Amino acid sequence: MNFQLDQTSLKIINNKKLEYELPFLWIRDNCSCNDCRIKETQEKRFMLNSVPADLKPKKVDVNIKNIKVFWPDDHKTTISFKDIEYLKEDRKPKKILWMNDFIPSYYDWSDFLQKNDIAIDAISEFISMGAICIKNAPQTPNSLEDLAPRLGPIREVLFERIHNVSVDGHVYNIAHTSLEVPPHNDFASYTWPPSVQALHMLKNDCDGGQSLIVDGFKVLQDLKRDCPEFFEILSNFPVPFREFDEDNETYANEPIIRLDSANETIGLRYSNQLMQMINPQKEDVDLFYKAYHELCGRINNDKYKSQFRLEAGHILLVSAHRVLHGRKEFMLNGKRHLQDAYYEMDNIENNLVLYKSLRGN
Ligand SMILES: [Fe+2]
Ligand SMILES: [Zn+2]
Repeated sequence: MNFQLDQTSLKIINNKKLEYELPFLWIRDNCSCNDCRIKETQEKRFMLNSVPADLKPKKVDVNIKNIKVFWPDDHKTTISFKDIEYLKEDRKPKKILWMNDFIPSYYDWSDFLQKNDIAIDAISEFISMGAICIKNAPQTPNSLEDLAPRLGPIREVLFERIHNVSVDGHVYNIAHTSLEVPPHNDFASYTWPPSVQALHMLKNDCDGGQSLIVDGFKVLQDLKRDCPEFFEILSNFPVPFREFDEDNETYANEPIIRLDSANETIGLRYSNQLMQMINPQKEDVDLFYKAYHELCGRINNDKYKSQFRLEAGHILLVSAHRVLHGRKEFMLNGKRHLQDAYYEMDNIENNLVLYKSLRGN
């Protein structure tokens, strides 16, 4: 290991190759000594503005394991290469996108709740594929409350804490009829819609009504490749969504595609039934509608629709900013009762880290 100092950073050179370029302020900010951290919690205590912006080391030592920096105020910072290397590791399982030949993996309800190893497998699969099923779940109302210790607290939204979907309950949405429900995610009418949805079938004695799910990220990957200008406008153009009844009002005006700072797709918001009238005087309404037409055709194309039947005691869990759900029309020749509850992906992803660390990885 060799190093060079320039005006603002320390360059670490390994076999004549620049390995890391470490800004001085980065080094100082990441000091892990007991003065710079809160000992009990490992949280940061040091405030960056307590040093000048043009801070430079007085002296630097580099060995095979560590960087040691001596600052003008005699503070000393040690950073290990291991800690820097660790930053390259993915915290989450990689996403695997799919078409209509995908069927979610099934996990047993009791195993999922009681066995950490099973929960680790199931949650890893869930993060990768965006959908799993749980079987042998109780067929009693509100059992979705019992998933909270595994998945994190229920994300409450208006209408009901655990939502009932049947034709003889409160009808405020297409799902409360026997009509086909096209692929959608729930509560597009929230600025931050629930990021995980559980659909728990309590009773399913009707013919028809097969569940269908669509990997929205796969649809968007293909759309971006084939029609980049459509992808672009769908990620910029805000669209109004509303869900309401006499006692509840929800409304959001947000683009259909949400991107992160690296331009990766991290959210799809799609609900034909909740979408509202767009002000026709807005710029680019014409281009938006062409793009939206293309998107609707793709989302509703059978080549993306995974189809299977949810039986009583089955719970379908979907990563709701990614995977759209819907169902075929069903016949009113029996009872059908489904309950929905929502959770947050952040909690589930963090629980995976927790369960793995409890197991020792
Ligand atoms: Fe829904
Ligand atoms: Zn320190």
